[in-house]
Amino acid sequence: MTLGAYDYIEKPFRVEKMRLLLQRMAEKVRLVTENAFLRERVNTEDNLDGIIGASANIQDVLRMISRLKDTRTPVLVSGESGTGKELVARAIHFRGAMAQTPFVAVDCGSLVPTLMESELFGYEKGAFTGAMKSKAGLFQAANGGTIFLDEIGELPLEMQAKLLRVLQEREVRPVGSNESRSVDVRVIAATNRDLETAYREGTFRKDLYFRLNVVTVHLPALRERRSDIPVLVHHFLNRYAPGTNLHVTPAAMKSLLQYEWPGNVRELENCIARAVTLGDRQVIDVNDLPPAIRAEGGGSTQTSFPDGSSLSTTALAEMERMTILKVFEQANGDKALAGRMLGISCATLYRKLKRYNISVRSSAENPQTVTQS
Ligand SMILES: Nc1ncnc2c1ncn2[C@@H]1O[C@H](COP(=O)(O)OP(=O)(O)OP(=O)(O)O)[C@@H](O)[C@H]1O
Ligand SMILES: [Mg+2]
Repeated sequence: MTLGAYDYIEKPFRVEKMRLLLQRMAEKVRLVTENAFLRERVNTEDNLDGIIGASANIQDVLRMISRLKDTRTPVLVSGESGTGKELVARAIHFRGAMAQTPFVAVDCGSLVPTLMESELFGYEKGAFTGAMKSKAGLFQAANGGTIFLDEIGELPLEMQAKLLRVLQEREVRPVGSNESRSVDVRVIAATNRDLETAYREGTFRKDLYFRLNVVTVHLPALRERRSDIPVLVHHFLNRYAPGTNLHVTPAAMKSLLQYEWPGNVRELENCIARAVTLGDRQVIDVNDLPPAIRAEGGGSTQTSFPDGSSLSTTALAEMERMTILKVFEQANGDKALAGRMLGISCATLYRKLKRYNISVRSSAENPQTVTQS
């Protein structure tokens, strides 16, 4: 046993016992293999934190990442939606010396308020109805590694106070417990809101703001670094149409370069994914782009509309809704697959499904159906 035998049986043995033992061993072998497989996938897939960009802006961001990766300094990543905040957070963690420690991403915007505290800090058995056994929270899960608090600006004031205490004391107290557990985590927070304004207006705690914001990595909007567009297009073509020779016509590239990209890199990614999915030719031409993007490059002066921004945001929402529906169709209603195809996390996908009133139902005959309510 000391040398690593799994178990032993005493003579005389019963077949039943032998069978049980073999079953357990088979299960263990399966788990070990599965674990190795998952570990490998995590290493190659999730850690593929390829941050693409040619602009001086993105080069600055990359330099910041390499300076921060081996520190325990709290980092605030700011930038509009879709600029790559999560990508940067992952890069800071996975490029550093602590890459083998846990990285736990928490979407503060999609946590159910009543469950937030128990999710973050855990709970004791019997803390509330349904708490059959005690459970560790996300902070404990991230112990020794990094916790990524996404959309930190969405955290209610009451939770902000609790979070601040955890960061100051370096310990969490599970719901329903009198004892604190010490936790050692690096915090990376992200926000698309202007937290400075938020704390001036009183919706975000100033003390928490300063605790989180020791270093800020700001991601500029895509329209402020248009020189990244061609390399990003190339990158996404490789991702969505690997091994093909699909290329973008100069006219289409002109449209892509001129568009305002209110949804930033994510919108560009969706745009390429859509063109790859819907187009059936060897090239991506202007006609394969959504109308809003086409219009701006087509010489018309759409952007001079006084309310141009809201116009393109509406168009963006519509495009996003269409893309999600289409991708769901392709993915046969498989949420995890759809999320991967769209390049968004499950949490983000759920938020979007809710926002666009898209419900995905399972039924016995028809494995998964997508409907719009
Ligand atoms: N510089 C980049 N190079 C390659 N891919 C990028 C880059 N920036 C963003 N992306 C891709 O764009 C998508 C959006 O990025 P990410 O989720 O990190 O953005 P975000 O700022 O967290 O957005 P949100 O505020 O909407 O959550 C992802 O699929 C990501 O891989
Ligand atoms: Mg994000």
